[in-house]
Amino acid sequence: PVIYAITPTYQRPVQKAELTRLSHTFRLIPNFYWIIVEDNQSPTNLIANLLKNSKLNYTHLVAPTPTSWKRKLKEPKWKKPRGVAQRNTALKWLRENRNRSSDCGVIYFADDDNTYDLQLFNEMRFIKKVGVWPVGLVGGLMVERPIIDAASGKVIGWNSHWRPERDFPIDMAGFAVNLPFLLSKPEAEFSFNVERGFQESSLLSQLVALDELEPRANNCTKVYVWHTRTEEANLNDEKALRRQGKRSDENIEV
Ligand code: UGA
Ligand code: MN
Repeated sequence: PVIYAITPTYQRPVQKAELTRLSHTFRLIPNFYWIIVEDNQSPTNLIANLLKNSKLNYTHLVAPTPTSWKRKLKEPKWKKPRGVAQRNTALKWLRENRNRSSDCGVIYFADDDNTYDLQLFNEMRFIKKVGVWPVGLVGGLMVERPIIDAASGKVIGWNSHWRPERDFPIDMAGFAVNLPFLLSKPEAEFSFNVERGFQESSLLSQLVALDELEPRANNCTKVYVWHTRTEEANLNDEKALRRQGKRSDENIEV
């Protein structure tokens, strides 16, 4: 099976650094396909060149977040969902370009800022419907994870503290979906019209019931992915320069 990683990404000073690090992780994964979706009106050269030089199999898509759902300047990040239009565009591409009976694979929503252990990709490759595992540094905890019943080996609950009433209180980084299985659910997608923080739960509710989940990472006792976030770069002097009509990155891509 091919691992299809779906990565929404948007322009910001740290974008190339994030994607460089991510692409170097992905280079180490056999049988891998990167679907990168820019939150932009049109594709940028920065991403096109990064992909071309990445040695990866990839598809480069664009999907702008509708203006009403774009985060306003100084608006806190958590007010609006992120990656919705981009992930749906990637799902649409898979539905149009991959075949339920002949393409085997697994889909993973890999945000551009998280940290991924290579072992994670071994864990997810042979998922039949939806696989789940712990995620480090998320939901206000050191680790958010599914609780497994030792006797049945099934997921019976979660340790989440943030909105634990969600049907699937899990981060985007904590699950993967079998490709033919997803293709058998042609309507399943993300939505702007769900409560804040319910993106993951809303998608999973369209796919499976709790007892269908396939626990991975040694019965969810290992952490192979961390919900890391990169600090915003301090560009105070750059802003001062630009007020004078100058810039430090003239003719040099950062
Ligand atoms: C958490 C989850 O880890 C995300 O998967 C989920 O989309 C998000 O909450 C949510 O509730 O919407 P968080 O770290 O806060 O994530 O989100 P970001 O990492 O800032 O964004 C998730 C992905 O969307 C990233 O790959 C990012 O590059 C992309 N993004 C972000 C855009 O494409 N456009 C934006 O305006 C912002
Ligand atoms: Mn993130």
